[in-house]
Amino acid sequence: MAVDTLLERITDYASRPDPYPLYAELREAGVARQTDGSYLVGTYYDIVALLHDPRLSSDRRNRAAPHRDPDVEKEEQQRPSFIRLDDPEHHRLRSMAMRPFGPPHSPGRIDAIRDEITRITGELVESLPGRGRIDVVDDFAYPLPVTVICRLLGVPREDEPVFREWSATIVDSLDIRPGEDPGEREAAGRRARERMGRYLVDLAERRRGRPGDDMLTAFVNDPGPYGEFSREELAATATLLLVAGHETTVNLITNGVLTLLRHPDQLDLLRRDPGLLPGAVEELLRYEPPVHMLQRTPLTRLDIAGTTVPEGVPVVLVPASGSRDPKRFRDPDRFDLTRTDNQHLGFGSGIHLCYGAPLARLEAQAALGALSPRLATATLLEDPPPYRHSAVLRGPRHLPVEL
Ligand code: HEM
Repeated sequence: MAVDTLLERITDYASRPDPYPLYAELREAGVARQTDGSYLVGTYYDIVALLHDPRLSSDRRNRAAPHRDPDVEKEEQQRPSFIRLDDPEHHRLRSMAMRPFGPPHSPGRIDAIRDEITRITGELVESLPGRGRIDVVDDFAYPLPVTVICRLLGVPREDEPVFREWSATIVDSLDIRPGEDPGEREAAGRRARERMGRYLVDLAERRRGRPGDDMLTAFVNDPGPYGEFSREELAATATLLLVAGHETTVNLITNGVLTLLRHPDQLDLLRRDPGLLPGAVEELLRYEPPVHMLQRTPLTRLDIAGTTVPEGVPVVLVPASGSRDPKRFRDPDRFDLTRTDNQHLGFGSGIHLCYGAPLARLEAQAALGALSPRLATATLLEDPPPYRHSAVLRGPRHLPVEL
């Protein structure tokens, strides 16, 4: 059986600024066993097929030793959120979480927040200095999605310093670092999820019996056909929404600004025709996506592109590689915001397709639309910028720019 080190090279922090040549190697190499016993998949059609295959589980409790979390008993006490569950449990909880957020029960919810997103974005752009140095992350890309998800969920915006550290610890616990014992990181992640869950359930409980248009209020006062969330389910669901609702969108906006500054011709096109914004955001989700890897566990022995993959081992899908696969996209390493054939994997595919995609799209379009006039004369001060550690959720930690 072939043994490879591509996963080690991809996750090495030195590769963070540009993992794409390694993804090209991965697509050439095919599916191979990595030194930590996991399997990597980087080709578009294989990833799509696997994301739609019920024999691949999102539930880590299906992992076999030695890939099983030694603390699994505790993990079982802490209910996984629906992103880490399979159907039918996943479907039930996703439907309950969707009830106050989107169709079929709340079809106008995201559209209704459009004006508020425009207002928040406008205020953030106004607050930037006329000239001088800014950090696109701290001054712009982070405050927008945090403010929006707090507003939607009904979390006080001024509590951001309370949950910021928990959120960072949870994101850190999701990273893939072969060769490193994940025990301490996973334990820290569990503790952070516990604290954030308790905090969010307390907020929700205080709204019981009271009116309000936020999602926490709806979760405790307006149960749908599936009934009420249990306390653990509410904790896991609200935590997932708060974390997923901002940690990814920050990177999309920051990667967007970085990519536009690196491609002045494309920035120019966008400034001249804001009608290109929706397509520009799709192209960013393909070309510089925030989510690079998704983990799954086969429930049975599987054949993936001619390689036999045993039951219970981690299978790491690399959608960021699939979205650059020349067998699917013409000229895939070219950033072209007028690209039309663009069914990228930036939001995943299959039953776990991103729940927040309509919101993320709206925020990124508003953010890039409002900022792009200011970018015409802006200069990148560090290229590549310093990246966050995570290889899974990839994006700059800071993006210093001179306006
Ligand atoms: C640019 C921003 C975003 C990106 C790139 C992104 C990406 C993704 C991806 C790739 C998945 C699939 C995970 C898997 O298959 O295991 C996913 C799932 C999910 N996302 Fe997003 N996301 C973004 C924004 C958001 C926002 C704003 C929210 C919340 C409002 C959100 C909530 C979720 C949830 C709850 C899931 C789990 C869905 C399920 O398991 O059925 N995401 N996201």
